[in-house]
Amino acid sequence: MKVSLSVDLGRLRLANPTMLASGVLGYSAAMMQKIAECGAGAVVTKSIGPKPRKGYSNPTVVQTSSGLVNALGLPNPGIDGFIEEIKEAKKLLDVPLVTSVYGYTPEEYTAVAKKAAAAGADALEINVSCSHVKETGSEIGQNPETLQEVVSKVKAAVSRPVFVKLSPNVTDIAVIAEVAVNAGADAITATNTVKAMAIDIETCMPILSNKVGGLSGPAIKPVAVRCVYDIYEKVKVPIIGCGGVAEWQDAVEFILAGASAVQIGTAIATRGLNVFRRIARGIEAYVARKGFESVSDIVGLSHHK
Ligand SMILES: Cc1cc2nc3c(=O)[nH]c(=O)nc-3n(C[C@H](O)[C@H](O)[C@H](O)COP(=O)(O)O)c2cc1C
Repeated sequence: MKVSLSVDLGRLRLANPTMLASGVLGYSAAMMQKIAECGAGAVVTKSIGPKPRKGYSNPTVVQTSSGLVNALGLPNPGIDGFIEEIKEAKKLLDVPLVTSVYGYTPEEYTAVAKKAAAAGADALEINVSCSHVKETGSEIGQNPETLQEVVSKVKAAVSRPVFVKLSPNVTDIAVIAEVAVNAGADAITATNTVKAMAIDIETCMPILSNKVGGLSGPAIKPVAVRCVYDIYEKVKVPIIGCGGVAEWQDAVEFILAGASAVQIGTAIATRGLNVFRRIARGIEAYVARKGFESVSDIVGLSHHK
C-alpha cells in the first residue's frame, strides 16, 4: 500500500515532514536548493533581522559529548540585504520557503516579516527563542505580553502563514504556545536550543566568546519531545518538532508526541545532507508497517489510550 507522506502546516502543504532548521545552512538560495534536492520537504532560512549583524567573535561553536553549544550571535545581512536571496530561492526551490525573522520590538518583527513576505517567502517563522542575544529571541518569547504583541502585529501585517518558534527555557512551554496561538500563530515550532555553556578546564574560562550559548543535538531530543507532547495537549494548531532529530526513529517519536513535521539542524553535520531523504523514507516504511495510510494518521498517537 502506498503511504502518503504529505503534511499540512496550516495552509502550507509539505510533500514530506522533514524541514531544514533555521540557522544551519539556510544562508543562501543555492544552499537551500541543495537541501531541497536532498529531500527536505521545506527549508527555513537563517534568522533575519532589521539590520545587518556581525555576530560574535570566535569561538562561537563548541562540540560537547552530547551535542553542540553555539552562540553565533545571529549573524545575518539584515532583511534589505537578504531580499534578493529570498527572490532567488523562490525561483530555484520546488519546496516551500520559510523565512525566519527576528527584531528587538514588535514593530521591527513586523517590518522584517512584511519585507520577507513581499519578497516571496511562503511562510514566516518568528524567532522568539534565540538563547544568547540580548533584547530579542527568548527575552521576547518568555514574556507573554510582548509575545502576544509580536505575533498579533505580524499576523495583521502579512497574509502568509506564521509559525512561532519557542524556547524550551521556560517554566511551562504549553502556556506560552497558547499565548502565541491566541495571538494568531498558524503553527508552533518546538523547540530552539537549550541554554548551556562549556568551560575549558586548562584556561579555567568559558569556551564561547559569549560565555553562554544554546545546546542542540541528541541531548535535547527528550526535552523537545516533552515540549511537543505538552503543547499538543493544549493547542489545536500544527506543531513542528525540533531538537536532536538524526534518524527516522527520532522523527517518528516527535510525530507520535504530536508534531506534524520535524526540523533538522545539527544532524546535518553528523549524518550529512542525505539525512532528509533517509528520514522521510524511514517514516514512510514505519507508517506502512504499522498499517496506516498517511503520516498524518500517526500525529499525536501517543496521547490516545
Ligand atoms: C549553528 C546553529 C545556528 C542556529 N541558528 C539559528 C537561527 O538563526 N535561528 C533559529 O531560530 N534557530 C537557530 N538555531 C537553532 C536550530 O534551528 C534548532 O532549533 C536547534 O539547533 C535544535 O535542533 P537540532 O538539534 O536539530 O540542531 C541554530 C542552531 C545551530 C546549531
